[in-house]
Amino acid sequence: MMNQNKSGVKALLKIAFNYRYALLLIALVLVFVPFFPFPEKEASNTVFFLGRFHPLIVHFPIVLVFLALIFELLARIKWLKLTKTVQATLLGSGLFGSLVSLVMGLLLYATGEYSGDLVTRHLWGGVLLAITFCLACFFFLEHVFSNRKVHFISYLSLLVVANVALFYTSHQGGSLTHGADYLTEYMPVLGSPDEEEYEPKPMEEMLVYEDMIIPFLDKKCMSCHNTNKSKGGLVMTSYEAMLKGGKSGKATLKPGDHHESELIQRVVLPSDHDDHMPPEGKAPLSPEEISILEWWVREGADTDLKLEAAKEDPSIQSFIVEYLQDLEKQQRAKFMQEQALESMIVQVSNDKKFQLGMDKYGDGKIALSMAFPPSSFEDNDLTSLQPLFGQISKASLVASGISDDALYHIGQMDALKELYLQQTAIDGSGLVYLASLPNLQLLNLSKTNVNDGNLLHILRMEKLEELYLNDTEVSLEVIEAIKKNKPNLKVALERGNFF
Ligand code: HEC
Repeated sequence: MMNQNKSGVKALLKIAFNYRYALLLIALVLVFVPFFPFPEKEASNTVFFLGRFHPLIVHFPIVLVFLALIFELLARIKWLKLTKTVQATLLGSGLFGSLVSLVMGLLLYATGEYSGDLVTRHLWGGVLLAITFCLACFFFLEHVFSNRKVHFISYLSLLVVANVALFYTSHQGGSLTHGADYLTEYMPVLGSPDEEEYEPKPMEEMLVYEDMIIPFLDKKCMSCHNTNKSKGGLVMTSYEAMLKGGKSGKATLKPGDHHESELIQRVVLPSDHDDHMPPEGKAPLSPEEISILEWWVREGADTDLKLEAAKEDPSIQSFIVEYLQDLEKQQRAKFMQEQALESMIVQVSNDKKFQLGMDKYGDGKIALSMAFPPSSFEDNDLTSLQPLFGQISKASLVASGISDDALYHIGQMDALKELYLQQTAIDGSGLVYLASLPNLQLLNLSKTNVNDGNLLHILRMEKLEELYLNDTEVSLEVIEAIKKNKPNLKVALERGNFF
């Protein structure tokens, strides 16, 4: 019986050996996978269904690939005796599991539910792992049948590389699932900062650009002029980008010449002028801020200019002192606010159904998103966030189990600017509650059951700028009517992005 089994495996190994070049072919095909143009259009339900098994299935090959290396190493130091049969079984099932996981991962990727650098790195890691593991299997077969040392060394090195890729990919995957600081979140830190620890920078070290100018440009300009959203083609998040300027081709910043610097010219225009910055409705720069900015440009727009220099210049010193006091107060308040927010986030975040992070351009507000892999986030789960309602500026409830009733609670999130509700079962009857949100600018209702009648509630959303309606039952007539009624609203029939 035993012998029969053994020779069965041997025969299988022989077959595998005969077809070993297929492994090279698979490895070659895999090289092209990350470059595959994934279709823009909505993925089918089967793709969603299969794709979501990826986080579950992936644990099998992780163990197998790891064990294949560990066994081989233990055999090297004569800790255990490893038969070719055992190792072949580990390698074969590991390879099969890796390829199945990779395919499912690609399906999940194709749903478009995940995008960004982290996903791209995870994809590359997974592909590298599959390629190196494929090649390791190839050299293993060569080694079994030829018993040449060079084959064994190639096999072992590739197995090591595959495991490095495995570690990297799992870490990226874990970060996707649990947030980038998952591993380090509870790392012991000595003396985490608290309110008393706020220490302003000593005066002699303070720089005009970094410590005075950036804070107000960040607050009043960068929400529209950053690398994600660069209105007028202008990015202001770095000095170099400002020097580059925007679409007009005029210099945004011309060191030494404030008359030729659009940065100044745009802010000193009368506030009702079309070109005034920031545009109407946004908090303008104060006269003090304008004076400091102008003075700094006149002095050569040097990023190393010390604040001490400003204090000595009679044309500017008078309000520098006052402004500095204000600035310190603001920074202290911001520090406290962030501390308070952080501790609130920690309190409600025990629930792993959702994630909270800072909304980078939300004036210290919070972004709410769903956990991955998706777990059953429902109406009740939303109420556990009640203490934070006023602090949420971006909310993504994509593919969650919420109903229209949840929109009643969302209607209390006064700071909310962006709301992503795609792939939920809502029919839009709760949209009426959102009409009272004073800041709502973006609403994504793609792939929901929203119908014509219920959609009309959006007519009362005054600040709404973007509406996404991919794959809904809404009729083109109603869309036309909405466009007529709200000419400034961008109604998009594409899926729209999410986070
Ligand atoms: C609400 C969004 C918004 C905010 C906030 C905003 N801008 Fe703009 N900015 C725009 C838009 C839109 C344009 C393009 C239209 C135009 O040129 O007027 C623009 C264009 C500009 C340009 C011209 C770029 C070029 O050369 O074509 C400058 C300079 C500029 N902004 C400076 C500022 C400054 C300084 C602030 C802060 C005080 C600011 N902006 C805040 C939306 C904004």
